[in-house]
Amino acid sequence: LRILIVGAGSTGGYFGGRLAEAGRDVTFLVRKGRAAQLRQDGLRIVSPHGDVSLAPQLVTADAIGGPYDAVLLTVKAYSLAAALEDLAPAIGPETMILPVLNGMRHMDLLVGRFGTGAVLGCVCKVATMLEEDGRIRQLAPVQELSYGEINGSLSARMQRLDDTMRGAGFDARLSTTIERDMWEKWVMLASLGGITCLMRGHLGEVNAAPGGRDFILALLAEVVAAVTALGHPPGETFLPAIRAGFTAPTSTQTSSMFRDLQKGAPVEADQILGDLVARGSGAGVAMPLLSAAYAQLCIYQKRLGGQ
Ligand SMILES: NC(=O)c1ccc[n+]([C@@H]2O[C@H](COP(=O)([O-])OP(=O)(O)OC[C@H]3O[C@@H](n4cnc5c(N)ncnc54)[C@H](OP(=O)(O)O)[C@@H]3O)[C@@H](O)[C@H]2O)c1
Repeated sequence: LRILIVGAGSTGGYFGGRLAEAGRDVTFLVRKGRAAQLRQDGLRIVSPHGDVSLAPQLVTADAIGGPYDAVLLTVKAYSLAAALEDLAPAIGPETMILPVLNGMRHMDLLVGRFGTGAVLGCVCKVATMLEEDGRIRQLAPVQELSYGEINGSLSARMQRLDDTMRGAGFDARLSTTIERDMWEKWVMLASLGGITCLMRGHLGEVNAAPGGRDFILALLAEVVAAVTALGHPPGETFLPAIRAGFTAPTSTQTSSMFRDLQKGAPVEADQILGDLVARGSGAGVAMPLLSAAYAQLCIYQKRLGGQ
C-alpha cells in the first residue's frame, strides 16, 4: 500500500517513522518549515523501543500528485480544516483515511468532505512529543494503533491494511469494535483532560486534595452519563478499570492537554471537551464540572491568542 502520513509531528512522525523503518511505502505530507528541518536533520525518533534516524520521503501540498491507498491523518484538531484542503488531492475513490485525532467531531468533518466509505475508525494510544530540535520523543512504552471499518466488518481492504501495519515495530490492531473504542477513548481523554486541567495537577495530587477523589468520580460520571445518553455507553470492563486508575493515590498520570497547558501551547479544548459538553447538554445531561473545565480552557485559549 502507498501510505501518506499527513503531518510528521509526535504521532505521524512516530508511526510513519516506524512504518518507513520497516520498509513500507510511506510519504509524509509536510509544510515548509518541517520539510526543511526533516531534509536537513532527517526524521529522528528517541524511543524505549529503539531510536530511529532516516531520510523520509516528503511531499508538500502543491505536489501531491494523485491518490494514495491510505492516509494517516495526524494533525491537531485546530489544524484540521486547513489540512483537509491540503490533503484533498491524495484522496481517490479507493483511498482509506485513518484519523488519529481524538473525540468524534473530525469524523463528521471527514465524512462530510470525503464520504462515509473513505473514512475508517482509528484509535492511537501512544505518548510522544515533538521536541524543539524536531526529534520525536516517546515518553512511555505504549504504542498501539487500532483501526477498523466503522460498521465492524472485516472487509478485504481492512485485511490489506492490517497486513501492511502489522510487523512494523508497533502494536497494530484490527478492531471490529472501533467505533466503541473511539468513544471509550474520548471518555478517558475528556475526563482526564478535564480533571487535570481544572485542578492543575496529576491524578495523585487531585486524589490527595480535599474533595479531590469525589470530584474525579463526579466528573467521570458526568462524561459517562453524556456518552450513554448519546447511545455510546462504554463496555462493561472499561468503567471499573478507569475508576480504579483515576483514584489510585500513587498515580502521577496527567493528560497531554495539561502538558500543553503547562507549556503555554494551544489545547484541543473544543474537540475534546466543548464538543462533548454540547452533545451531552443537547441530550439533556447536566454537565457542570466538564463545562467549568471547558470554560477555563476557553479563557486560556483566548489569552493565548492575545485577544
Ligand atoms: N502525541 C500523542 O502522544 C498523541 C497520542 C494520541 C493521540 N494524539 C492525537 O493525535 C493528533 C495529532 O497530535 P500530535 O501530538 O501528533 O500533534 P503534533 O505533534 O503537533 O503534530 C502535528 C503535526 O501536524 C503538522 N501539520 C499541521 N497542519 C498540517 C498540514 N496542513 N499539512 C501538513 N502537516 C501539518 C504540524 O506541522 P507544522 O505545524 O510544523 O507544519 C505538526 O508537526 C491530535 O489530535 C492528538 O490529540 C496524540
